[in-house]
Amino acid sequence: MKNLAVFVSGSGSNLQAIIDAVDRGFIKAKLALVVSDNEKAYALERARKKNIDTFYFNPKKYKNRPAYESLITAELSKRKIDFIALAGFMRILSSEFTAKYKNRIINIHPALLPSFPGQRALKDALDYGVKYAGVTVHFVDEGVDSGPVIMQDIEPVRNEDTQESLLDRIHKIEHRLYPEAIRLLVEGRLVVEGRKVKIE
Ligand code: GRF
Repeated sequence: MKNLAVFVSGSGSNLQAIIDAVDRGFIKAKLALVVSDNEKAYALERARKKNIDTFYFNPKKYKNRPAYESLITAELSKRKIDFIALAGFMRILSSEFTAKYKNRIINIHPALLPSFPGQRALKDALDYGVKYAGVTVHFVDEGVDSGPVIMQDIEPVRNEDTQESLLDRIHKIEHRLYPEAIRLLVEGRLVVEGRKVKIE
């Protein structure tokens, strides 16, 4: 059985979708650790309710990124983590960290990459006036939202959409897409060739 870690910073609705998918045997892995940089993240609460190990670190307490990343790495090694899913984790990981877990870290982003990378993706897309919003699941490399694309899905933007109404529909897509991508990842069915990811 492979070991999975999920990194979070916020409400953790994607974490919940992953927890549920593990529970029903759709994702065949152990959810062995939830890592958060935010003590108040509701995601931590979701993990505790299911007796999943959590690791919280306060980035402000460390002099630089390598200092806290080495602690995270120790926690991951202790639990023999094979794969990492970022789910609303608001921190950039160093190139050393992403290299160590090359092709084993994935992220979910609420836009159709490479359009609208960064933290305000949904607002940026809406402000731009796109007709289709969407979701991207991708491998994480040393850049920001720049790694090879695993899956995407689209959502038409409606005239009356606000950030809230669109986000609501985007979340529904995310909660379906991310467990599907993680399932394929842990089953070793994602093959990366340069920028292309083949599903086998
Ligand atoms: C999601 O919209 C995801 O695409 C983005 O951060 C958000 C996290 O939401 N990376 P939640 O904490 O999983 O509810």
